[in-house]
Order: sequence, then structure tokens, then C-alpha cells
Amino acid sequence: MKRIEPSSAPHSLPDGLVSLADHERHAQGLLSEAVWAYFNGGAAHEITLRANTQAWQDRALRSRVLQPLAGGHTRTTLLGRTLAHPILVAPMAYQCLAHPHGELATALAASALGAGMVLSTQASTPLEDVARLVLGEPERGPLWFQLYLQADRGFTRELVQRAEAAGYEALVLTVDAPVQGVRDRERRHAFKLPAHISAVNLQGLRERTPCPLRPSQSALFDDLLRHAPTWDDVDWLRQQTQLPIVLKGISHPDDARQALTCGAAGVIVSNHGGRTLDTLPATARLLPAISQAVGGAMPLLVDGGLRRGTDVLKAIALGATAVLVGRPVLHGLTNAGAVGVAHVLRLLRDELEMAMALTGCRTLADAPRAIEPLSYGALV
Ligand SMILES: Cc1cc2nc3c(=O)[nH]c(=O)nc-3n(C[C@H](O)[C@H](O)[C@H](O)COP(=O)(O)O)c2cc1C
Repeated sequence: MKRIEPSSAPHSLPDGLVSLADHERHAQGLLSEAVWAYFNGGAAHEITLRANTQAWQDRALRSRVLQPLAGGHTRTTLLGRTLAHPILVAPMAYQCLAHPHGELATALAASALGAGMVLSTQASTPLEDVARLVLGEPERGPLWFQLYLQADRGFTRELVQRAEAAGYEALVLTVDAPVQGVRDRERRHAFKLPAHISAVNLQGLRERTPCPLRPSQSALFDDLLRHAPTWDDVDWLRQQTQLPIVLKGISHPDDARQALTCGAAGVIVSNHGGRTLDTLPATARLLPAISQAVGGAMPLLVDGGLRRGTDVLKAIALGATAVLVGRPVLHGLTNAGAVGVAHVLRLLRDELEMAMALTGCRTLADAPRAIEPLSYGALV
């Protein structure tokens, strides 16, 4: 393992953390209310936020006994690579809020555990530093860069070129957040970034000068959204890069079909962890129809509310090739830096293996038979 500089923040695992829920409880005790609101909050009433976790829990598994399990494994293939398991770290902004090692610690842990990592455009660490730290790791999973298209397309092109030059292997274009969403919890706690943490990869981006508006005009439609990305920009992006493009934030089967037509290499079924549009359905509910629409023509990933190995197995059973985990990684990072993130990822993978063994699945290809049809499946 490569080294990152020591810090006085926690980097050994507290006793008694045996599940992702334990990590969450412990992390809450370490963070200010404002940072907690930013990390764990969602949009508006937080209905989608809650539904995401609940919906995985509400699906029932079914088990076959006495199956031959020897030689089983969690391997999967994604964009031409074989991965040891189907768990990736979702892109999340400003990870130095959780721990001074921030994205470096997350990337180091992910690479040691063979998990893929998606670095956010709004990372608080230079994208080159993250790539340099992990690209040489033999067991690492894929390293992808998440892109928010900036109004300044020239700047966006340069950012893409930087990611390519640094060795990122795919671009994840986030398409579900042209605006931030109604973040009541964050505003209630007056969350704001401390002076030493910023989106360092966006340095040099010119401050947007707001348009002067008449009182009858809309700050969104007449100003902010004038440069919001459209399907044409997906075409534009394809012309700027050789990297595969994965669209993140797909919640409608028709958009998944259009992504395919547009030459996307994959899609991520996501409602942004319930942080943008409240009352969108939980991703566990969105996944089956999108999987049917895509029909195996490209890899399908999903995120939102996955907190147990059984949730991961259900996601694979419903058509996902792989899953991304968001907040639990921030909790692990808060609790013990790289060690905490590694622990979270290890717990999830161990639980996935256990869930496979107990449902009689030797490989992930067996997963579809491990879930109850919806009509019989509700546990409550
Ligand atoms: C604090 C935080 C910051 C996030 N920042 C980004 C981001 O910069 N880009 C992005 O595409 N998604 C971002 N997301 C959304 C995640 O990538 C992911 O979709 C979501 O967290 C998954 O849900 P989960 O947290 O329930 O696992 C962020 C999520 C959180 C919690």
C-alpha cells in the first residue's frame, strides 16, 4: 500500500462497529450538525431518501438449500474488466469534510478492497493526486471520473482532458442535477464549506455573473438553466473523449433507451441518493423497468440506500451489473479514514457472500432466482 501523510483525525477502528448502521451512528457523533445535514440529508421532506433504504428492505429474498456452493465467487465484468465483486464507491463531493485525508483515503481503501471508485468533479483533492496514489495497485477496481458539465464548455473540455491524462478509465456524466434541489436540512443548519475545503478541480473556472433579471423573470429558467446540459451535450462530450461515458441519474426507461442510442457505455439508475427531486421512486422500484428497457445491451448500475449485502444481492437479482455506495463510505471515512472506508466495503462484500451462500447462489448469475416476485415479496 502507498502511504498518505498521517493526521490527527481518527484512523483506527472504534470497537463495536459491525454493520453499516453502526458506522452511521458513530459518525454522527463525530460530525457537526451542519456537516451531518450535508452528508446525510436529502431534498425537501426526504421521502425519497427514506424510501431508498426502505425499498431494498421491503423486497424479500428466497432461498434454495443444498446447492453446490464450492468455488463460488462474486466476480462480475464491467466495461471490459473483471472485478472481484460488484461494489463501487459513488462520487461524493468534499470528502475532506469527513476526514483530512478525504478522497485519498477513500481511493486507497477502495483500491485495496478491489472496489471501483468514482471521483466527483467537486472533489476536495486534485484528481491527479488520487489517480497517482492508486493506479499502480494491482488489485484495484476501476477508477472513473464523475463530470458535471460546466457552463463554460471550454473549461469542461480541459477537465475531461485532465482526467484522461491522469488515467481515469471512464467518465460518469451526472444528468439528474441541473439544479441542486430543495435542501431544507442543510439550510436549517446553515451548512457552508469551511475556507480550507473547496472544489479544487474547478479552480480557474470563471465565476458566473448572474444575469440582471426583471422581477417577473425566473432566476432558474431565465438565468441558471440557460447552460444546463441536454442530450446534444452528451453527443458533444462523446466527440471530446475516447473514454466510455456512463450516464448517472437515470430514472426513466425511455431515458435509458435514449442513453443507449446516444452511445453511452452504461447507465446508473439513481435518484442522487434522494438529494435532488423529492418523491422520485426508490431506486429498487425503478430498476426492474429500466433493466427490461435496456435488455442487457449495456451495463446497468444502481445506487441509493444500499446498506446490506442482501440489498446488493437484490440489486443484482433485479438486473444491476454492479452497485455504488454513497453515504456509508463517508461514515467509514469519518470514523477511521482509509481504515474505516475499507471496513465498510469489507462488511458489505462479506455480507454479500453470506447472502449468496444462504440463498444458494454460487455466482452472481444465480442471483435472479434469489428474489421473491413482488406480488408475494412484501415482508410487511
Ligand atoms: C455528501 C454527498 C455528496 C454527493 N456528491 C455528488 C457529486 O458530486 N456528484 C454526483 O454525481 N453525485 C453525488 N452524490 C450522490 C451519490 O453519488 C449517490 O448517488 C448517492 O449518495 C447514493 O445514495 P446513498 O448515499 O444512499 O448510497 C453525493 C451524495 C452525497 C451523500
